[in-house]
Amino acid sequence: MFKKLAIVTGIVFSVAAIAGTTPAFADSKTIVKTQDIQIAIAKGFGEAIKKRRTIFRCIATGLKKIKEGKGDAKKNARLVLKNAAMLEQNLKALFPAGSHKGKTRAKKALWGDWDKFAKQAAALKAGAAKLTAMDGSKKGLKGVYKTCKGCHKPFRGEKNKAHGKVKCS
Ligand code: HEC
Repeated sequence: MFKKLAIVTGIVFSVAAIAGTTPAFADSKTIVKTQDIQIAIAKGFGEAIKKRRTIFRCIATGLKKIKEGKGDAKKNARLVLKNAAMLEQNLKALFPAGSHKGKTRAKKALWGDWDKFAKQAAALKAGAAKLTAMDGSKKGLKGVYKTCKGCHKPFRGEKNKAHGKVKCS
């Protein structure tokens, strides 16, 4: 119980950090989303896994839309950044130790090499921030995509049951 409380408190601080440092996406919607994570985490690994998989899928969807020239590039870039920021800010809560079991592709190795994992999450967010600053220009895609493989290769395992359709915001 106390452990969970500590995690939740950590997330509240993260929200403050988002609001304080990156006004580009620190709108009320972002904060609502982050509170969702608090609720999710309180329910245990299953929800944390679902949440992180949704985040990755939304990042992939936003990037793909930009690549294919679908929709509003600026909006898509912001979607990517928002999700990349949620991932980075809540990395520990989204990847609680031991959550490599169940409906997940996360490898156990990730917790043994946490600094590298966290660095790659930060690189993803930095790439997404650049893409947003470039208004979602296709030229900014490479900088984001180059961060995927470096993390998937060591830390993402075989395909596993998906969670059905996700709603990105
Ligand atoms: C910090 C490490 C890291 C980075 C960077 C990263 N990923 Fe992932 N990704 C993962 C892990 C770990 C999983 C498995 C999550 C799970 O199943 O619990 C995953 C899962 C996914 C999934 C599957 C989601 C689902 O439905 O199960 C997609 C799609 C994805 N990533 C896309 C991307 C794209 C695109 C990029 C680059 C723009 C990227 N990821 C960057 C670590 C990363």
